[in-house]
Amino acid sequence: MNWENLFASRSSRMVASEIRELLKLLGKPDIISFAGGIPDPDLFPTEDFQSAFSAVLSDERQTGALQYSVSEGYAPLRQWIVSQMETLGIACDIDNVFITSGSQQALDYIGKLFLSPGDTALVSWPTYMGALGAFNAYEPQYDRLIASGNRSAADYRQKAEANNSQVKFAYMSVDFANPTGETMDLAARQQLLDMSDELDIAIVEDAAYQSLRYDGEAIPPILALEIARKGNIDQTRTLYCGSFSKTLSPGLRVGWVCAAKEVISKLVLLKQASDLHSSTITQMAIQEVASKGFDRQVAKIHAAYRARRDCMLACLEKYMPEGVTWTKPEGGMFIWMTLPAHLDVSELLTLSVKTQKVAFVPGRAFFADGSNGNTLRLSFSQADEEEIDEGIKRLGNLLKDAV
Ligand SMILES: Cc1ncc(COP(=O)(O)O)c(C=O)c1O
Repeated sequence: MNWENLFASRSSRMVASEIRELLKLLGKPDIISFAGGIPDPDLFPTEDFQSAFSAVLSDERQTGALQYSVSEGYAPLRQWIVSQMETLGIACDIDNVFITSGSQQALDYIGKLFLSPGDTALVSWPTYMGALGAFNAYEPQYDRLIASGNRSAADYRQKAEANNSQVKFAYMSVDFANPTGETMDLAARQQLLDMSDELDIAIVEDAAYQSLRYDGEAIPPILALEIARKGNIDQTRTLYCGSFSKTLSPGLRVGWVCAAKEVISKLVLLKQASDLHSSTITQMAIQEVASKGFDRQVAKIHAAYRARRDCMLACLEKYMPEGVTWTKPEGGMFIWMTLPAHLDVSELLTLSVKTQKVAFVPGRAFFADGSNGNTLRLSFSQADEEEIDEGIKRLGNLLKDAV
């Protein structure tokens, strides 16, 4: 059987990431892993969820909890999100909010809604590799989004036209980005809005880490800035993608999109054709836990991750050789390192796992063109401070030899 003959052309861009395959091998107990980039399970609000699932299965919600429900999402959860959005300067109503199975599903739907084969998506360089994975299925071309640089709208347009393409959206992980940990400043957000207005494209604002700020001043979401300019969310071009994965639980798979109603109603049609709706009981439990203790949970996470970030930054100062630089994130889970240009981080990873028992993610996977082989991503979310010290010391030793 020659399956390749039967698969659609889009499947040729669905390749297993070498790194993901490699990372599967890293669950071994003797490895200190800074690779994962997932929440620490010890911080999950497990008891709150025990009570919430029990409540929604025993009170007046019980029949609905196990039943089909609407594609837009569970109304009380959407209402809670409306009030949360309000605190960020985003005035909206429930019809501007659409529940997805994680924000990853939102990225898939956005790819499906906007990208015909050959269309151009502007993405940061590096960008979240899961976004590239989601968009790749729709066979786009990518161009490099330089949010605060001097590339003009005309330049993006001309480049797309030269490739018989049309720019459809700009995608950014805005706060404490995956993978760099960096945050887009206010001027860059305003500049992106100007440029997107001129190009007449959508903005996909990935806010997966938005709640994870440990210090510094919060910067208004791009959607909030655009509402301030245009007066009303239904006049905006920004799709804000939120997630409960980094705050309450990634395993429950609940995220949302907040955007103009015209876009939301199209996304709802996609969901009807895809999985009908996200799990009803799960949305109910998330709503219960969020409305009873979201801020308390976020404060708990902040305290733990802030200490780990501080520890990792201090260890990097202490153990890294000259010629190695790194970002200093104000939140999130990631630090991005740049090594001297001649080093290949994929080779270093193999060596690091073998000889130092330390894992990280080579940066290449986060670039749409697979470039920048001298970069890597470290996550501080899962290791405790002792492991961070030991792991960064070992990595420092490896890099001293390599540099
Ligand atoms: C920037 C970014 N966006 C989206 C996601 C997807 O998260 P989820 O589908 O769990 O909401 C992740 C997950 O790591 C991420 O880092």
